[in-house]
Amino acid sequence: MIATATGPHHLQLTREGQLRHFLTLDGLGRELLTDILDTADSFIEVGERTIKKVPLLRGRTVVNLFFESSTRTRSTFELAAKRLSADVLNLDISTSATSKGESLADTLYNLEAMASDMFVVRHAQSGAPHFIAESVTPKVAIINAGDGRHAHPTQAMLDMLTIRQHKKTFAGLKVAIVGDVLHSRVARSQIRALNELGVAEVRVIAPGTLLPRDVEALGCTVEYDMMRGMKDLDVVIMLRLQKERMEGALLPSEGEFYRLYGLDRAKLALAKPDCIVMHPGPINRGVEIESAVADGPQSVILNQVTNGIAIRMAVMSMAMGGQLAERQQALNDIAKQEVRS
Ligand code: CP
Repeated sequence: MIATATGPHHLQLTREGQLRHFLTLDGLGRELLTDILDTADSFIEVGERTIKKVPLLRGRTVVNLFFESSTRTRSTFELAAKRLSADVLNLDISTSATSKGESLADTLYNLEAMASDMFVVRHAQSGAPHFIAESVTPKVAIINAGDGRHAHPTQAMLDMLTIRQHKKTFAGLKVAIVGDVLHSRVARSQIRALNELGVAEVRVIAPGTLLPRDVEALGCTVEYDMMRGMKDLDVVIMLRLQKERMEGALLPSEGEFYRLYGLDRAKLALAKPDCIVMHPGPINRGVEIESAVADGPQSVILNQVTNGIAIRMAVMSMAMGGQLAERQQALNDIAKQEVRS
């Protein structure tokens, strides 16, 4: 599990290149991403057993801290931690002392005082998990479960696992991400992962109002016409319209958006016949995807959900290993200094 990393993202790796936090895919090389996928592959079999447990995190305490709503990510992190035999605490933010004015930092200091080993954090503010890892609770492993528009690294990795299962290799693949790229942390992490793993092309398909400025700089080509954009695709990833993050009118109407950018059977027929259909969820049927496509033979949407457990088991076990190694290294360093003085 050796990796190389440079720059500010170095925070999430130990000196030996092991994961100690999982905040972003930026700065993580192909070797580490492949290591995560291979580790997840080994956990898939655990989910098929009668007794779905391995003792890797026995005695460790994982706290799920979801400051934003979630179905898939929260449930699969909880199941992943339990399958690793960790003790899991799901803090209900709506009934926690944050509703009495306690700051995020104070909440985390208190949870850290309960000898927690790992926080899984979803937050509406971009950068919140990074801030927590750097300055609030550096001794606890922090796993980003989605922060603002910034990143959703475990979602991107479960998507990569699903693509690899169906296509065997990333080389030569043409992948499109369609819809509300502007507000999507998932799209940003997917573009990063797809490029690092070596696909031939990442294409975003959307109206200009739903694309970030300089989107090409993220590592993708742009197509405004979905009929043209579907050509030659191996993988199409649909995104939800994130109306809760939209300020002002970015679309004429949902009906017009569906007509131009909704994935229906006619548009899907323009892609390669074995093109797979993906969506991180939650899906909005009749808004960005037709039910017959979401439930159809090319859809791998529920495979993505199942793979979320294995990927999260992989990331949590790898980060815990790195966190423990880092603490041991710090103790060794202190002992060496004491001997010298
Ligand atoms: N894909 C995803 O993040 O879904 P949830 O919001 O349900 O976790």
